[in-house]
Amino acid sequence: MADKTPSYRKVLDQISHEVQEKFQNNRDWVHGILHVKSVVGYGRQILDLDGERLALKAGMEREKLDFLVELCCWLHDLESEISARKMLGDYREDFEDLEVTMDDLELCFTAIAEHNQPTPKHKNNLIVRVLQDADRGEGFGYQGMISVLQYNKIIRLASRPKAAEYKEKFLKFWPGLVNNPLKRTKAIHWLTYISNWYGGGFALSSTKLGGFGKDKVCPLYTDAARKIYKKRYLIVKKYLQKLKKAEENELGSD
Ligand SMILES: [Fe+2]
Ligand SMILES: [Fe+2]
Repeated sequence: MADKTPSYRKVLDQISHEVQEKFQNNRDWVHGILHVKSVVGYGRQILDLDGERLALKAGMEREKLDFLVELCCWLHDLESEISARKMLGDYREDFEDLEVTMDDLELCFTAIAEHNQPTPKHKNNLIVRVLQDADRGEGFGYQGMISVLQYNKIIRLASRPKAAEYKEKFLKFWPGLVNNPLKRTKAIHWLTYISNWYGGGFALSSTKLGGFGKDKVCPLYTDAARKIYKKRYLIVKKYLQKLKKAEENELGSD
């Protein structure tokens, strides 16, 4: 059987170029092209560690699984799943040559549509779960805290910091988060949410800030992601505990 890896690579290279072009004018740095590239990287790391087992579980050739996961990672933050469908329309012949079927692609479209749900509807779709694990990769550590606070307008940073700058930036915002009761409540809310991305818990109630409602957040699916993100998850947990402690102390002093 011919080695399909170079052909898979060629398609992914073309698609990644198209995606990068589409993101050129994107101003939301939390979900910009650097985020997408980083999700691609996390997807690869997860497959490096867990790929054999996952391919077996999916009943899929390893190289096809690698291809589909990377494809989803590149496409997951386009405006919608429909944009992803449109883009892939031009690659029909390549997919035929690679024996990537419509069913395979449907797994990807479901993954793209559901990647940001607290618990995806199609929990048994392994591609959905691996994409979600990869997408959560930036959600931990100083970067994760900065990103979720920025995204929810609790702090403001005009552009995406360099990797080495997240800690310093976070520590600059920290006194404001601990000492301002409203910011603190909001920060507790969102840091709880991202820390639940690791081991599961409750999702946000969309109606009331601070309410943790009915939607469950599913924990990370792969052992690989748990391993890769653990240190940074513990950082989030540490600051979350500090915020909660500050809140308790203040309530206690009333
Ligand atoms: Fe997303
Ligand atoms: Fe994303």
